[in-house]
Amino acid sequence: MTPLHIWTSFGLDAPAQELFDRETSGHTVGRGEDDFARADVVFGQFDPSRLDSASRLRWVHITSAGYTPYDTPEFRAALREKKILFTNSSHVYDEPCAQHALAMMLALSRDLPGCLDLQTRADWQSGPRRAESFLLREQQVLLLGWGAIAQRLAQMLAPFGCRITALRRRASASENGVRIIGLEELEAALNCADHVVNALPLAPGTEELMNRTRLAQMKPGARFYNVGRGKTVDQDALIDALNSGHIAAAYLDVTEPEPPPREDAVWRTPNLFVTPHSAGGHSDESLRLVRHFASNLRAFEAGQPLHRQVLQDD
Ligand SMILES: NC(=O)c1ccc[n+]([C@@H]2O[C@H](COP(=O)([O-])OP(=O)(O)OC[C@H]3O[C@@H](n4cnc5c(N)ncnc54)[C@H](OP(=O)(O)O)[C@@H]3O)[C@@H](O)[C@H]2O)c1
Repeated sequence: MTPLHIWTSFGLDAPAQELFDRETSGHTVGRGEDDFARADVVFGQFDPSRLDSASRLRWVHITSAGYTPYDTPEFRAALREKKILFTNSSHVYDEPCAQHALAMMLALSRDLPGCLDLQTRADWQSGPRRAESFLLREQQVLLLGWGAIAQRLAQMLAPFGCRITALRRRASASENGVRIIGLEELEAALNCADHVVNALPLAPGTEELMNRTRLAQMKPGARFYNVGRGKTVDQDALIDALNSGHIAAAYLDVTEPEPPPREDAVWRTPNLFVTPHSAGGHSDESLRLVRHFASNLRAFEAGQPLHRQVLQDD
């Protein structure tokens, strides 16, 4: 096929750069303003208001799973009008985020934070720690979102024998034993879930989807986890729910704002566990991003459908 001009903003480590150079040989690559203006393909992130300056653009592949800055009616209309394809990198982040959420679910169910806390005091209180531990078997898990991360987590949870429900924009048929609901059934699902795992994007309708009312609808003693976006949860209401004992524990990989200021209560609230937006991270992240781009580049060259196409109106 005719060589493409690829604009990239993405800084790669040496092994990933080597793979990128190999996979794009036969095409030209540049990082400058001029390169953007004549690019057929964009790989990385860019200011969405610059879209008009790229008159030849046919495909954008972003290096994140989240695409909130691009999700505007104007940007969607421009993609449609100019027939530009838009793909994201959800496929790279579903595995680490699902593993991260599962790790925290297991840590809380086996009361690892309680045991590690005892260790700092050279304390050996076996009885209470054993009594606080429980099994995931037959626990009710509610996944907020039924995208790449939630679907991978559901697969990982299958051997534990949990009962899984997932929320998406509209209810649909069950998939592999997972009941899929819309917002109209959310209250009932919150009432009986032992674990609520939030993997929602910041998108129309998700800002503070877990508001004070919905947090109060959670089953007493349930656990809440967020690997999606901080703004989808009313964080003050979550802290109140933990302080009152209504929610037994919560885990946030994403907060609002990021990072939380030093004086923020998220750092000090008992039974609130925080990681620094590291759920999607992994040592070969750059390499996997390039592999994913390269497999889509092969499909694009062959005129075949691209993997993880988003921002199509539905
Ligand atoms: N912590 C990290 O390091 C990290 C890493 C990667 C991603 N993330 C975050 O995780 C988010 C999810 O990633 P993903 O790859 O799983 O996304 P995805 O595949 O795009 O799935 C998003 C899911 O959210 C649902 N959804 C969107 N708006 C909704 C609404 N108003 N009400 C109910 N459900 C709604 C979608 O419903 P439909 O099925 O109906 O479309 C879809 O099931 C990303 O957007 C990003 O913000 C975090």
